[in-house]
Amino acid sequence: MDIKSRIKELIEVMTLEEKVAMIHGNGLFSTGAVPRLGIPPLIMSDGPMGVRRDFYDDKWIAINNTDDFVTYLPSNTALAATWNINLAYKAGQVLGNEARGRGKDVILAPGVNILRSPLCGRNYEYISEDPYLTSRIAVSIIKGIQENDVAACVKHFAVNNQETNRLKVNVEVDDRALRELYFPAFDVAVNEADSYTLMGAYNKLRGTHASHSNYLLNKVLKGEWNYEGVVISDWGAVHDTYEAVYNGLDIEMNVTTNFNEYFMANPLIKAVNEGKIEEKSLDDKISRILNLMFKLKMFDDNRYEGEYNTLEHKQRVLDVAREAITLLKNEGKLLPLDRKKIKRLVVIGENGDRIHSPGGDSAAIKALYEVTPLSGMHMKFGGNTKIEYFKGYSSEGNGDDKILFDEAVVAAKNADAVVFVGGINHDFDTEGFDKPDLVLPYGQDDLIKEILKANKNTVVVMICGTPVEMGQWLDMAPAIVHSSYAGMEGGTALAEVLLGHVNPSGKLPMTFPKTLMDSPAHSIGEFPGVQTVHYKEGLYVGYRYFDTYKVEPLFCFGHGLSYTTFEYSDIRISKEEKDNDIKVIATFNVKNIGTVAGAEVIQGYVRDIESQLERPEKELKAFDKVFLQPQEKKEVKLEFDKKAFAYYNDEEVTWVCEKGEFEILIAASAQDIRLKVNITLDETMQY
Ligand code: BGC
Repeated sequence: MDIKSRIKELIEVMTLEEKVAMIHGNGLFSTGAVPRLGIPPLIMSDGPMGVRRDFYDDKWIAINNTDDFVTYLPSNTALAATWNINLAYKAGQVLGNEARGRGKDVILAPGVNILRSPLCGRNYEYISEDPYLTSRIAVSIIKGIQENDVAACVKHFAVNNQETNRLKVNVEVDDRALRELYFPAFDVAVNEADSYTLMGAYNKLRGTHASHSNYLLNKVLKGEWNYEGVVISDWGAVHDTYEAVYNGLDIEMNVTTNFNEYFMANPLIKAVNEGKIEEKSLDDKISRILNLMFKLKMFDDNRYEGEYNTLEHKQRVLDVAREAITLLKNEGKLLPLDRKKIKRLVVIGENGDRIHSPGGDSAAIKALYEVTPLSGMHMKFGGNTKIEYFKGYSSEGNGDDKILFDEAVVAAKNADAVVFVGGINHDFDTEGFDKPDLVLPYGQDDLIKEILKANKNTVVVMICGTPVEMGQWLDMAPAIVHSSYAGMEGGTALAEVLLGHVNPSGKLPMTFPKTLMDSPAHSIGEFPGVQTVHYKEGLYVGYRYFDTYKVEPLFCFGHGLSYTTFEYSDIRISKEEKDNDIKVIATFNVKNIGTVAGAEVIQGYVRDIESQLERPEKELKAFDKVFLQPQEKKEVKLEFDKKAFAYYNDEEVTWVCEKGEFEILIAASAQDIRLKVNITLDETMQY
C-alpha cells in the first residue's frame, strides 16, 4: 500500500483524543504517541550549535547524565563567515548525524532570521544580514541534516529580529522588505532544501502572532509555496485554539508542563465536542505529521542510526573554525606570528580562557570539550615559547579590576608579543535579551589602549557573535582578528591562524558599524519599539543601507584579509534571456600572487542602474570560494539567474526583472570591487 493510503487509513481509525495527542507537546520536547496504532512520539531537540543536553520530560531540569556530551559546532554566524557552502553542508551532516545518534527526530535548527540590528541577542544563532548568503548557507545546512533521517526545523518564521519583548512585539514592515529580505531564506529552506519542519515565531506580524498567522502560514507558506511539511510553534507562541487550528499551525509546543491545558489539547477537544471546531480540520495536520514520520523512516527497520562525537565530527568542526576566523586588519604584517622569535608571549583577556559552550539558553551545548584560545595557543606554540596569561578584566568585577588591569599592562611591556582576546560572551549574545549597546563591556577599551601603548606587537582578537565598537583603539591596533563562537575546536583554529599554519579566509557576514546609531534599524527605523516596532528602514538593512546612504562602516560586509594577495582579471560575460528565465554568467580569473596558499571568497553583486522602483545601491547575488596555491590562477564562473535581477513590486504583487542596464560587480568585499561589467536586459519579465 502506498504511503498516502496508509496515512488515510490511519486517520480514519483515529479517535479525536488520539489526533489531539499528536498535535501538541506531551513533554517539553516531544509530542504524544498513539501506541494503539504503533505511532511513536516526535522527539525534538535544540539546537543550532549541536544537540542540546537532555531534560526531564516534565521539568526544566537537565537529566545530568554523562551520555549527552556532544560535538559543539561553530555558530551560524561563524559558518556564514566561511562563505563555504560545502562546509555548511558538512556541518549540517554533523548536526543531523549527532541528532539521530541521540535518538532525535527533529533538530530545531537552523535559525535564519535576518540580522536587522546588531543588538539582537540571538544574531549569532542566525546567519547574516543578507538574504542571499543566509539562503545559500541555510539550504546546505538543511540538506546535510536531513540526510540522516532527521528533520531540520528552520526557524523562526518570520521577522523574529529582536529579543526585547519577543513574545508580544508586533512588527510592521512593508511587503517589499518581507519579500526581498525576510522571506527568501524560508522560501528556499522549504522549496529547495525541503526542510521537513518549520518553526513559527513568537512575535506578531501586523497584529497577529506569527505561529498562528493566516497570512504567514496559510497564505504564503502553505499556499504560495505549497509547503507540505509540519509547522511547529515556538515554545509558548500559541495564544488561541481556534486561530491555531485554522491558521496553519500543525503542532503546539510550550515551555510549561500543563500539557493537557495547551490550546491544542483539552481546550481543542472541548471546542470540537461543542461543535465550534470541526474534527476534520485536524486531519491535514495528522496527515503532515504521519508523512514526516514516513519520510524519517520512523516505521521502518532500516532507519539510519546516527553517531555522535566521532573523530570525523571533530575534524569537520575544526575545518569550519579554520575558515570562519576573519582577519580584519594586519598592518606591517604583524601576523602571522613567528614562534621562533617569540620567547615570551603574553595572552590577556577573559575570552582567552573562557568556555562559551554552556551559554546562550536554547543554543547552549554540553560540549564534550572546548579548546579555549589559551589552550589552543599552548598546544600550537609548543614548549619553546613561554606563554603567560593575565585576565586583564573580569566579567564578574569583584573589585579587583584595577589590579587585573595594571598587572596585564606591566606584563605586556616585557613580552615579545601580546595576544589580547576579548569581545563579549553569552551574557550578551543570548536568547531573551538584546544587547544594550555595541560598547565593549568590562572596561576593555581602556585596557586595549594601554596594552597597545605598552607593546606594539599586540594582536587584538575579538570573540563575539555580532559587531562591537572598536573606534577608540582601531588606529592604534596593527592586527585585529574576529571570531564568532567557533565551536569546540575554536581555540585550535585561532592559534593556527595566529601562527600562519592556517591562512585566514573568513569574511564578515554582517557590517560592523562604527557606532550603533550608524545602523539603519536605529538611524531610520525603530529598535526595539514598544508594543510595535516599525521597520521604517524597509530594504535598507546592513550593507544595502551603508552603501546606498554612503555611511562609512568600521568594517564592511564581506570584508576579510588573507596572508596572501589575490588578483582578479579578464572578465567576460554571457547572457541568455529565454524560457521565462535569465542566465548571466560572469567568467574571470583569480590568481594568488603571494607566496603562501590561501582561499578567496569572491562576491558577485548586481546593481540596477535605472529602475522604476527605488533599489539599494547593490545586492549580493552570487559568491564562490576558491583555494589557490602560490602563483596559481583559476577561472571562476559566477552565475546569475532571474532572481538576481528582480525586485518585488508590492503594488502589482509580482517579481519584476526590468529591462535596461545592470552592472555586475565582482568583489572581494562590499567595498572592494575588483571587476565590473555592464549588461542589458532586453525584455521586462515578471514572475
Ligand atoms: C526558542 C526556540 C527553541 C525553543 C525550544 C524557544 O524559546 O525561541 O528557538 O527552539 O525555545 O527550546
